[in-house]
Amino acid sequence: MIRKIADGVYNVGAIDWERTLFDEIVSTPQGTSYNAYLVIGSEKIALIDAVEPEKVEQLLANLEELNVKKIDYIVSNHAEQDHSGAIPVLLEKYPGAKVVTNAKCKGFEMDLLPLKDDDFIVIKEGDTLELGGKTLKFIMTPWVHWPETMTTFLVEDKIAFTCDFFGSHAATTHAFAEQYDRIYHEAKRYYSEIMMPFRQIVMRNIKKIEALEPKIIAPSHGPAYSEPSSIINAYKEWVSETTKNEVLILYVSMHGSTKKMVDALVDYLGDEGVEVKVRDIVHADMGEIAIDLVDVTTLILATPTMLAGPHPSVVYAAYLANALKPKVKVVGIMGSYGWGGRTVDILKSNLGALKVELLEPLLIKGTPKKEDYEKIREYAKKIAEKHRELGVMK
Ligand code: FEO
Repeated sequence: MIRKIADGVYNVGAIDWERTLFDEIVSTPQGTSYNAYLVIGSEKIALIDAVEPEKVEQLLANLEELNVKKIDYIVSNHAEQDHSGAIPVLLEKYPGAKVVTNAKCKGFEMDLLPLKDDDFIVIKEGDTLELGGKTLKFIMTPWVHWPETMTTFLVEDKIAFTCDFFGSHAATTHAFAEQYDRIYHEAKRYYSEIMMPFRQIVMRNIKKIEALEPKIIAPSHGPAYSEPSSIINAYKEWVSETTKNEVLILYVSMHGSTKKMVDALVDYLGDEGVEVKVRDIVHADMGEIAIDLVDVTTLILATPTMLAGPHPSVVYAAYLANALKPKVKVVGIMGSYGWGGRTVDILKSNLGALKVELLEPLLIKGTPKKEDYEKIREYAKKIAEKHRELGVMK
């Protein structure tokens, strides 16, 4: 399906309605798309990004439908195979085409794909490529998602092709997000899983894109934005240091004791005026947990003791939270134990990248008793106090 973006600019990429998992870890409940943008100048034709190799037939069919007989340039903003993997097939089909990218991306693509040195034209920051009435300008935007990622800006139409940056895993027939009301959640999911670890660099890249004053932002996943401020402002809020008056409790409970502690903490936090999100890690979607992590102030890991340490699912959640580097300010470890173990040490060792205040752990022997509930109430008060100190709650 071809989606028109502007005169002479078409999204000819592939829609993947059935994909449910990305990178073998990221859930994609709304599917995804691999957008490839055809830019037709009076003299030259460029294709910006390609598609996942197994979806190349959709791309080729769209090019056929537009009667594209030659492509001069395949601009590659990012080497990851969901955007670059179909380039070898495109070069076979359009043998005159050259791959236009930066030196780092060229290196990655030569490692990953059967491409040779003279398949490439190497560009750098600020270089331009004339297509005839349409000029492509290249802006380096590293770490959104890999170190080589860049943005291509179509100067005359003021369209920023940002690849993963501002993307969303969302399969839709709509060209633009403004026609598609589920997109905010999917864009936040995408940010949390892909961009959040690089918040500082993302902020610098937002400024670079803003300086272009784009009229359209066209990422390579999900719909484009005809009102760029909507996604730019959402990103600014997500990358900012501001957090919400919220606690995220991630828990596992084998026989119910830890769950009783969690239930009590939820009630007591409610009494204190703190919002709570609770997720049973074993059954929760890690993508939803990543979204929660974007702006919560406090993260609580609640675990029973198992194999002399935390439940392995809680270790996994701690490892992921640590890798995603959310702006969480406070972390607490709580749970029930039978006869000891290294729960706190093991979880702490998995949280080293987070710049957080660690609350005194709250570990209870067996199932919580009356005096334990008092401790949990005190724990809730302590969290509320931290929220007041941090200015997220009055
Ligand atoms: Fe959509 Fe980082 O690839």
